Amino acid sequence: MAIIKVGKEDLRESDSSMSELSEYFSSLSASKGRSITYNVKTYGCQLNESDSEKLCGMLEQMGLKEASSDETADIIIFNTCAVRENAEDRLFGNLGIVKADKINDKDRIVAVCGCMTMVEQNVEKIKKSFPYVDMVFDPQHLHLFPVYLRDALRNKKQLVNISAEDYIVEDSLVPIARKRRFRALVPIMYGCNNFCTYCIVPYARGRERSRDMEEIMDELKKLASEGYKEVMLLGQNVNSYRSSKGERFPQILEAAAGIEGFSRIRFMSSHPKDVSEEIVDIMASYPNIETHLHLPLQSGSDRILKLMNRPYNREDYLKTAHYFRDKVPHGAISTDIIVGFPGETEEDFLETLKVVKECGFDSAFTFQYSRRPGTKAATMEDQIPHDVVTERFGRLLELQNDLAYKSNLAKVGKTEEILIEGQSSTAPDILTGRTLSNHLVNFTIPDELKDPSKTSDDYEGMLCDVEFTHARPYSVDGKMVRLK
Ligand code: SAH
Ligand code: SF4
Ligand code: F3S
Repeated sequence: MAIIKVGKEDLRESDSSMSELSEYFSSLSASKGRSITYNVKTYGCQLNESDSEKLCGMLEQMGLKEASSDETADIIIFNTCAVRENAEDRLFGNLGIVKADKINDKDRIVAVCGCMTMVEQNVEKIKKSFPYVDMVFDPQHLHLFPVYLRDALRNKKQLVNISAEDYIVEDSLVPIARKRRFRALVPIMYGCNNFCTYCIVPYARGRERSRDMEEIMDELKKLASEGYKEVMLLGQNVNSYRSSKGERFPQILEAAAGIEGFSRIRFMSSHPKDVSEEIVDIMASYPNIETHLHLPLQSGSDRILKLMNRPYNREDYLKTAHYFRDKVPHGAISTDIIVGFPGETEEDFLETLKVVKECGFDSAFTFQYSRRPGTKAATMEDQIPHDVVTERFGRLLELQNDLAYKSNLAKVGKTEEILIEGQSSTAPDILTGRTLSNHLVNFTIPDELKDPSKTSDDYEGMLCDVEFTHARPYSVDGKMVRLK
């Protein structure tokens, strides 16, 4: 299917809808005597987070304000994820909860977008069981959200806009309300061509398509000049980036690292087949590229990897992991692992544990296999019983928790630079941040470094050196030794 590049002229109706809606919301605000508010709930990965920042950007351009946590917003958007069944269940649960709000206030708008909308059964279920949802639209048509919102307000009946074309929309065409003032999420490619047999993403997000390198660079330079410290280059398979002019991921990574102002360049998600020595060499040679590689293993058994349609084997994977460990000695590797893929035997699972041990993952996202209707694996024989999956999952978790703790323990006694993310959720006088290797750190500020004019929020986005004092299973404790 052809990829459609959206230009400024394609957004004319969207822009005019946005102006029309600004006027509408401004008079609604006057008649209600308060601000009109929105709430975008995001499920799933960072690409969805990035899409949500665009929805928020459009809503703010229409004059809406983000609702505070204790109020019900006038516009509620659920930006959904379909990757596992529990993400879907959470949506349906939350849709049930907003029903009462919708009955109390008929002017309220409830929208569902994101990956779940690309699965037909989900849309049917919304139509049938949640008729009070005002609008449903797919993730590829985000740029048309103002048009859909205008139509939903005019027509007062459920509007469903789902189609499967592959679009590429440059970031400069859509307003973005960035959630964190130090971190910019920058998608560089969209979609996936890999069709791992368990995964819904290629159906939800379409085929791979990449943004123009020049556009990406313009965006990055602008972000650096605005004071963003961290940039996260995003893509379902970020390192299969290929522009229409033939530029590849290493060029993007190197050019991004060369822009003055960024302390951290991160990227997500890498597919092991696309992580070349060249990429690792670039990571090793720029001080502002993260020393962290997310390298999803999925399984350590060659037999299962084949059934999963992952085009590498255990040995290829280990080679990349060892190359990274050699070149980036203080770096960290994280991974994704699925337990209980159809046909997984105890022997296969033990192979996974072996690879986990050999790689010594610094952290891991571990998942129980979730059967996704429409994928190849969903029809495979020998689906693994739930109790077997949970038992294996427990063993994997135990091993991985131990490895993560060891990785944190190895930091104790060292001092490293931290990018401060804000106040820790555990205590008001503790700050939280991350090392270049993506280790999570909670730390105190000693009295002599405390600035009474600063609140915890003022530290967000600043850099400091922290001495690590204590390891925990998922984080390291420390104390600030220098604010930069
Ligand atoms: N594109 C990324 C991953 C996107 S989905 C990559 O290939 O690395 C994130 C993770 O969810 C995957 O790495 C996989 O571990 C997990 N996942 C995807 N489909 C799943 C399923 N059906 N059941 C359980 N976990 C799944
Ligand atoms: Fe899913 Fe595989 Fe594509 Fe990742 S590479 S999004 S796991 S199909
Ligand atoms: Fe989920 Fe879609 Fe991301 S299925 S993981 S939100 S691409």
